[in-house]
Amino acid sequence: MKPEIVVLSRLGPPEVMEALEASYQLHCLWEASDWRAALMAASSARGLVTTGSLGADAALIDALPALEVISINGVGLDAVDLPAAKARGIAIGYTPGVLTEGVADMAVALILAASRKLVQGDRFVRDGTWAGGEKLALGWSIRGKVVGFLGFGRIGREVARLLSVFGISALYHEPEALEGVAADYCSDLAAMAEASDVVVVCCAGGAATRNLVDASVLKALGSKGLLVNIARGSVVCEPDLIAALQAGHLGGAALDVFADEPQIPAALQVMENVVLTPHIASGTAETRLAMGRLVVENLAAYFSGKPLLTPAPM
Ligand code: DGY
Repeated sequence: MKPEIVVLSRLGPPEVMEALEASYQLHCLWEASDWRAALMAASSARGLVTTGSLGADAALIDALPALEVISINGVGLDAVDLPAAKARGIAIGYTPGVLTEGVADMAVALILAASRKLVQGDRFVRDGTWAGGEKLALGWSIRGKVVGFLGFGRIGREVARLLSVFGISALYHEPEALEGVAADYCSDLAAMAEASDVVVVCCAGGAATRNLVDASVLKALGSKGLLVNIARGSVVCEPDLIAALQAGHLGGAALDVFADEPQIPAALQVMENVVLTPHIASGTAETRLAMGRLVVENLAAYFSGKPLLTPAPM
């Protein structure tokens, strides 16, 4: 008998769903009109596949009494109730490493999109404003600028490495001062923002980082500054961000993540100096395939009695 597993969201590449279907009896929750009933029908499920943003809260873990392993398609652990899982002895796998480059590429794309007005320019052409004889206001160059990183782990460092070809200077806040990195440590986040032209949020979500980017940090970044978030919406205080943009205290924002996805505040949607993308920093076919394969490999390791390839730090 194939073990039963619950899958919360369809994993992009067909190869990944095919691999899951081949080895497990799947309860595909995204197909269910009534999650509660679908979970009751899955009460013997031993595995759960979820994403970094959907995670697994205590209610979901409680609803699956036979659950032994959670395989997360993502690197973020903030949406998983780790203590609840630990108390039940549930193994947790995630997908670090394989999405570093994809997410870092997206951060660079967002910086260039905002600074070179790619999205505004596209709208300007499509809505006929250009043909009507107007000129789009000038963008600005990332070359030689100062970029501050809130979070300087695998992803932050890869973004800095990519941006080094533009001759940027890198600052970082969090983790504590590191050896051997080509970036200067700033113990004070607002001071780092004040010294930066761009701040890129690359840290983990969760209670420790909630609303770290608030009105004081945004004001310090300043009326020419750009905030980029490819990490978690919870790190940025969204009402403060909207107020800073409306007041002109902040130059612009490029955001892939939001506090209440997929709901986006209406105020952000009408701002010309904001670039919005739907949590797709890891959204390339190549990255999603590598992530999906790791999800499948972690489950296979668990069900054959081997250690998970990439266990989540608990
Ligand atoms: C992650 O890896 O956590 C991404 O945000 C996808 O959810």
